[in-house]
Amino acid sequence: MNAPRLPQASPEALAASERLAARIRAQIESAGGWIPFDRYMEAVLYAPGLGYYAAGARKFGDARSGGDFVTAPEISPLFAQALAAQIAQVFACCAPRILEFGAGSGALARDLLDALDARGAAAERYAIVELSPDLRERQARLLAGRPVEWLDAPPAGFEGVVVANEVLDVMPVRLFVRRGDAVFERGVAVREGRFAFAERPADAHLAPAVAAIEREVGALPDGYASEIGFVAQAWTRTIARQLARGVLFAIDYGFPRREYYHPQRLMGTIMCHYRHHAHADPFWLPGLNDLTAHVDFTGIADAAHEAGLDVLGYTSQAHFLLNCGLLDRLQAGHTHARANEAHRLISEAEMGELFKVLAVGRGIDVPLLGFVRGDRVHTL
Ligand SMILES: C[S@@+](CC[C@H](N)C(=O)[O-])C[C@H]1O[C@@H](n2cnc3c(N)ncnc32)[C@H](O)[C@@H]1O
Repeated sequence: MNAPRLPQASPEALAASERLAARIRAQIESAGGWIPFDRYMEAVLYAPGLGYYAAGARKFGDARSGGDFVTAPEISPLFAQALAAQIAQVFACCAPRILEFGAGSGALARDLLDALDARGAAAERYAIVELSPDLRERQARLLAGRPVEWLDAPPAGFEGVVVANEVLDVMPVRLFVRRGDAVFERGVAVREGRFAFAERPADAHLAPAVAAIEREVGALPDGYASEIGFVAQAWTRTIARQLARGVLFAIDYGFPRREYYHPQRLMGTIMCHYRHHAHADPFWLPGLNDLTAHVDFTGIADAAHEAGLDVLGYTSQAHFLLNCGLLDRLQAGHTHARANEAHRLISEAEMGELFKVLAVGRGIDVPLLGFVRGDRVHTL
């Protein structure tokens, strides 16, 4: 692939990226010349001290501040205020506790705590599980003085609300490609000193998973390449096992399986983000780009269901936020800037349609507010 033409990184950042690349090349060499893509993705995002989420890159924020992308809680407190209406409803059925995964800058935690307080539905505990040591520090600075604790793993027997906003899309995926009657795994090798895709016959884990997808969506055409989020599915099963009572809200960009593995989506959904430019070359400046895949929400709902959770709702971010009273919140504090923010959150051309909200839970028998209109569980 040709290198994308994007803003220059600093000499220090380039040197760190080269150190990470050397480490990955050594991994590939000691694995016999090839590693599966999930190992590559794990390294570029989370390798201690060098991976994108494990080093000091700016990440969140607008282009001027040197950020790479902006998430909904960074765009506007309206996002947390609407989500708080949904969480307050769940708090009426279980312990008023929140467990947030991958809290980024901490903006969602701050705004949720404020919004729940303002509604008279204060959270009794707010815990964060964050893989990135760098972001954990940043969250601690933003949330100093608030009732927040950091955990290394989800607690067993958790009761309350689990939130994961844009977390599933940064969980490592395995890539596959159909070639005639056979299925291959696309992994990473080194050619002339550079990373390159290389294929191996799919193993006993990947091949049956692709066959299961094809049973659902029909035979995939020759040359069709995509990915499977085994890590996100395993994470969902872990949460399901730990959740004694309550709801997990997974908010992310993605589709139901039939749309995800649509025959026309020939190259999968791998996407990189660098200073507000999206590109598709995962080998360009490893460690300096966010590397993501869309979420197969059917896979997540199935994993939750198999682990004993009920699928409580699935809809677009726009429907969810509107059902939760986003427009009332907007009217209560209307400014031109807030109206623009609301537009970014709900417009079909921005985050409103591509982003989805999936709710799965245990012991909740009221219809959830966020899905009263426009629920699409039947599409999963
Ligand atoms: C794209 S950022 C989203 C941050 C934040 N939720 C937001 O919306 O602004 C992804 C976050 O998920 C974290 N993360 C990824 N996998 C995780 C896991 N298995 N457990 C906890 N955090 C994780 C990353 O370190 C990062 O903070």
